[in-house]
Amino acid sequence: MSRLTSVTLLGALLVMGCAPAPQSGRGFTLPNGDVKRGQAVFVELQCHACHQVDGVKLEVAEDATDMAVRLGGKVNRIQTYGELVTSIINPSHKVAKGYVKEEVTKDDEGKESRMRNYNEVMTVQQLIDLVKFLQSHYELKPYEPTDYPNLHVAN
Ligand code: HEC
Repeated sequence: MSRLTSVTLLGALLVMGCAPAPQSGRGFTLPNGDVKRGQAVFVELQCHACHQVDGVKLEVAEDATDMAVRLGGKVNRIQTYGELVTSIINPSHKVAKGYVKEEVTKDDEGKESRMRNYNEVMTVQQLIDLVKFLQSHYELKPYEPTDYPNLHVAN
């Protein structure tokens, strides 16, 4: 194989290797939303029937349930837009941390997530504002170095 062919092949491989899969979330960004509108949408769509948002006082939901899945609060890493959007429009994709899968999944109709499906009723603008609202209530935990015992080298 000539040198030129090998270099071309290597280049092609690199380009293909870096190309995201069609299902990848890469390239996904949302326009800027509005926190206040997002909070109003959260109540309007009765998200608070099952969710509490850290640091936000909301009136009791009309169709309140016994679920209280907490959103927001101190986390090690703020969820990305992509992750939050996925949680909202494709809820069974990932089950919230700290919940026993069986408790939050499979409702009476045997659906996979007990989270309601909003895909037929929510506008894109509502989704954008909801994500902005939720993201504004996550707080990064300050970095805590691991408390290793001092390592003294005996000499
Ligand atoms: C009927 C109850 C219910 C309603 C109503 C509901 N959710 Fe959920 N939601 C859940 C449950 C249960 C989970 C836990 C994971 C799962 O089952 O998918 C969840 C998970 C989430 C998560 C992911 C949390 C995490 O830490 O990963 C987000 C974000 C979320 N919901 C947003 C919303 C928004 C926004 C609305 C309103 C448009 C809403 N939910 C309405 C029950 C509900």
